[in-house]
Amino acid sequence: MTTSTMKAVRIHAYGGPEVLHYEDVPIPSPNPDDLLIRVRAAAVNPVDWKIREGYLQGFLKHELPLILGWDVSGEVVAAGSEVTGFKVGDEVYARPDIERDGAYAEYIAVKAGDAAHKPATLDHVHAAAVPLTALTAWQSLIDAARLQAGQTVLIHAAAGGVGSLAVQLAKARGARVIATASAVNIGLAMELGADQFIDYTKTRFEDVVEDVDAVFDTIGGDTQERSWQVLKPGGILVSVVNPPSKETAAARGVRSAFVFIQPSGEQLAAIARLIDDGRMKPIIHAVLPLTEARQAHVISQGGHARGKIVLRIVD
Ligand SMILES: NC(=O)c1ccc[n+]([C@@H]2O[C@H](COP(=O)([O-])OP(=O)(O)OC[C@H]3O[C@@H](n4cnc5c(N)ncnc54)[C@H](OP(=O)(O)O)[C@@H]3O)[C@@H](O)[C@H]2O)c1
Repeated sequence: MTTSTMKAVRIHAYGGPEVLHYEDVPIPSPNPDDLLIRVRAAAVNPVDWKIREGYLQGFLKHELPLILGWDVSGEVVAAGSEVTGFKVGDEVYARPDIERDGAYAEYIAVKAGDAAHKPATLDHVHAAAVPLTALTAWQSLIDAARLQAGQTVLIHAAAGGVGSLAVQLAKARGARVIATASAVNIGLAMELGADQFIDYTKTRFEDVVEDVDAVFDTIGGDTQERSWQVLKPGGILVSVVNPPSKETAAARGVRSAFVFIQPSGEQLAAIARLIDDGRMKPIIHAVLPLTEARQAHVISQGGHARGKIVLRIVD
């Protein structure tokens, strides 16, 4: 590499989209267990604007300025001395450590254990749309809910970044899927494999659903509260938005879990196999250049993206 700086989008203070600044920053130096990745594409997730707003200050350790974005697909340009399994030129994808600088940048240093070879059947824009949401779905449905073939799962926000992959993952496990979204997304939910669709703007899901083995809650609040009553005895409510009440779970004779996604190169390798086998695909809502990160945040914060918003960084 001949230059020591790169283009990146950083925040120097917490606030609205206007605190996102496109600027020159030093190219990161990889640790011995890191890969240095030339970023081809980075996806935007709700956690990005939650961090930008300062909502997660008590929960995550960040120093400002901070590069946002924890979904990346790109090419390895350097590997630390302790790295095994990857070499310069490999095409990889990752959900990097959220307490380090993210991927709204031309380069990112990522722990090699958090990365995997990207799905061969996807380009970088589509591959970047996968890691954070697919790991969230995996760790919620497989690790926490232990979803089995023949079980029924209610998946809220099936058209969202997490939900659209969760529906496909649950179907790949052989489960029956009930999906919620607004009417405009019925076609998408059915195409992804949902067996039953509920337009949450017209029907209260608890009026038409009962005795499910698992609920996957990506909405929280009132949606989570109303979800308890549709579980069968011993069923499980898994949320990725707010921790469900242990007392309510015990009183109703069901189980609950809160999942905060952890990076895992191993799980990403398994997810890449599912994608290359044609059993899962990311849905893209919009692709924008890095210079339009502010607009990408406005769309994400609107709460009605259909799949993922991706920043194309380097062609
Ligand atoms: N704990 C963790 O590790 C973790 C990991 C990933 C995500 N999350 C959190 O999970 C949440 C979802 O993430 P995401 O990436 O999937 O968000 P997203 O892509 O922005 O979700 C947008 C989707 O939500 C749907 N939606 C909105 N209100 C709904 C409702 N009341 N019922 C059903 N669907 C509704 C919209 O469908 P319509 O347009 O049809 O309304 C839209 O398709 C976020 O809060 C995120 O921060 C947590």
